[in-house]
Amino acid sequence: MGKTYKIAVIPGDGTGPEVVDEGRKVLEAASAKFGIGLQMTDFDYGGDRYLRTGEVLPDHAADELRKFDAIYLGAIGHPGVTPGILEKGILLRLRFELDQYINLRPVRLYPGIETPLKDKGPKEIDYVVVRENTGGIYTGTGGISMKGTPHEVAVQSMVYNRYQVERCLRYAFEYARKFGKKARGVGDANTLGLVGKTNVLTYVFDLWERAFHEIGQRDYPDVKREYYHVDATCMWMVKSPEWFDVLVTSNMFGDIITDLGAITQGGMGIAAGGNINPEGVSMFEPIGGSAPKYTGMNIINPLAAICSAAMMLEALGEIPAAQAVENAVKEITATKIKSLSAGKMGYSTSEVGDMVARRV
Ligand code: IPM
Ligand code: MN
Repeated sequence: MGKTYKIAVIPGDGTGPEVVDEGRKVLEAASAKFGIGLQMTDFDYGGDRYLRTGEVLPDHAADELRKFDAIYLGAIGHPGVTPGILEKGILLRLRFELDQYINLRPVRLYPGIETPLKDKGPKEIDYVVVRENTGGIYTGTGGISMKGTPHEVAVQSMVYNRYQVERCLRYAFEYARKFGKKARGVGDANTLGLVGKTNVLTYVFDLWERAFHEIGQRDYPDVKREYYHVDATCMWMVKSPEWFDVLVTSNMFGDIITDLGAITQGGMGIAAGGNINPEGVSMFEPIGGSAPKYTGMNIINPLAAICSAAMMLEALGEIPAAQAVENAVKEITATKIKSLSAGKMGYSTSEVGDMVARRV
């Protein structure tokens, strides 16, 4: 038996618990095959707990979770709770308190999956977005004054300091060096593209752009640097996704472009992500929501959750196990799954989990 990892599992709301069960199944298969010890502990954070107890997240939650090697999250979002309370009170709070300053979101089309992009396939849709995850407009200063009057003022500022920008860029450069297209043998360069808006947000993205070139020139001369405006990036994500390798961007821009990316890779049913603290505990989650209307029906697609589990294995350093899970997913998307949509996969949620686990 190799190393034993302590995993905190937050199944969460809606269909979260169902997809997490399938992820668990696949993790257990990988654990048996590769001799990895996994010790999973469940936490009931989510909408039901909030409605029952009135508490969104206990104050000791982050300290508790820090004792684990990784966190595996299903979904947060409950139809009985005002939007924002759980998202900000659980998901964002954990990202911030655990200082998960990177949100890693691969945009990868698996074989056999339909993309809305004409004439594009797995070869063209194959890049990664490194989203800054603890700063910017998500945590900047703000407030409302004179609320409810005709003179009401609302401010929400995009705030970045050099430290936040630099640590995110360094992670992205390292990532491009290790996992860029050249490193993976599918291109002739490892390229990091900075996505910004230097033509309008001339303070914040001036900081990002200067730091990008300074760090790149000095410490990562082997990584090719590109700069793209965020609006143009959206256009090219649709028209020429093959141009991209690794992209790095601010919190809000990353949030927006990764939903666009997700739909080009077949939708939320397959899009996985990791909230990463390279020096601490990271949290892996499918990037789609809790899809409450499908709860308990055993028809939701668990592949995004399974791919998030693969990302977790990779982050823990269990590379062969991570690859085995990803390959198993590719095999069933290529040969089995009809559609990624709930109820149209041709299989139930648990059957999809079984098929992946068996192939691992
Ligand atoms: C995401 C989500 C979250 C975000 C919400 C639910 C707070 O949209 O993970 O992309 O904006 O980061
Ligand atoms: Mn989002």
